[in-house]
Amino acid sequence: MFSSRVANLEEYCFETINKIKCEKIEKGEEILDLGIGDPDLNPHKSIEEELVKSLKRENYNKYPPYEGIKELKLEIINYYNKIYNVKLDLDEVVILIGSKEGISHALPVICDSGDEIIITEPKYPPYETSANLWGIKCNKVKLFEKNNFLLDLNDISDKVSLNSKLMILNYPNNPTGAIANEYFFKQVIKFCKSKNILLCNDGAYNEIICSKSKPTSILSYDEEKYCFEFGTFSKTFNMTGFRIGFAVGNKKLIQGLLKVKNSFDSGQFIPIQYAAIAALKLPREYIDSNMNIYNSRKNAVKKIFKEKNILYFNSKGTFYLWCHTPLGYNDKTFAREMLEKYSVIITPGSSFGKDYDNYFRVSLTNDKETIKRVLGSMRAY
Ligand SMILES: Cc1ncc(COP(=O)(O)O)c(C=O)c1O
Repeated sequence: MFSSRVANLEEYCFETINKIKCEKIEKGEEILDLGIGDPDLNPHKSIEEELVKSLKRENYNKYPPYEGIKELKLEIINYYNKIYNVKLDLDEVVILIGSKEGISHALPVICDSGDEIIITEPKYPPYETSANLWGIKCNKVKLFEKNNFLLDLNDISDKVSLNSKLMILNYPNNPTGAIANEYFFKQVIKFCKSKNILLCNDGAYNEIICSKSKPTSILSYDEEKYCFEFGTFSKTFNMTGFRIGFAVGNKKLIQGLLKVKNSFDSGQFIPIQYAAIAALKLPREYIDSNMNIYNSRKNAVKKIFKEKNILYFNSKGTFYLWCHTPLGYNDKTFAREMLEKYSVIITPGSSFGKDYDNYFRVSLTNDKETIKRVLGSMRAY
């Protein structure tokens, strides 16, 4: 009676981890959750103030314009111009109820059921689960540490490139923290254009980078706007629960996405959209100061892991650290040991792809002193 699409859908990895966490909390244990990438930092006061103030706006309670309010779209256009030197038109921007929503709804714009796409692994799990729901086949191309977790185009077979209609990249990359450079993006754009594959970068972490690096958008290297990119307020502005993001770039894709969305949702609550405008108006020092916090946490964890003989990928992006499991452990046995012995939640590498069971991910979304105290108490491996 029920569909195999849902029956075959893997449980979102954090749900399983969350269950164990809840059981421990119920027993009164203190848990250090370095699992999910949900920032512990607070949204800036001006974001909260704008949210509250907007409740007094006329028609704040009505259905919002489907594509998002014009003021927010203009602010995103201004942001792309200022930060990435990319010029966008209004019809090249659509507001999303978080980028996860947009990722799923973009797929049927490009693919019919039975079509194929390319995703890289390790990956943010919803790329594959959403594709499965739409009846789309994922061709998974592995990323290797020896290539700094950048996609090697030689690893894509002719058959896969011939059959695929879309490629999803994600740089700065979750879970590895890898960042892409101009040369890389230009090569992939050239490849996709020559193979008639639409190209997307999930830019959720575009601004979550080592304080000395400059944020990069794939659109900076794509004058024709062949590509499109997802963005979100979740990570940069500590607004995960607000559920607000955007897609920009390729006009045909953006307009198609809007059409699909019209069948699913009616846009995000208007005051949240105004709060997002307040976020984009914050001085750059605000973002820099958050990045300094993440960098200092990352450095602290690196130092501890060095002492404990745990190897990690020395990345410049995201608030994650992608680490090797110690000798004699796989991701699951190590995650269990961390939870049982130290009450620390980490994410097993295989949550991001089955071949990555010799890795685990640490999310630096907890305060530095607690991280240092708890991880410092670990034994050496
Ligand atoms: C790579 C990546 N893309 C998208 C998202 C979803 O972000 P949002 O809160 O905008 O749905 C996440 C969240 O963890 C992510 O890691």
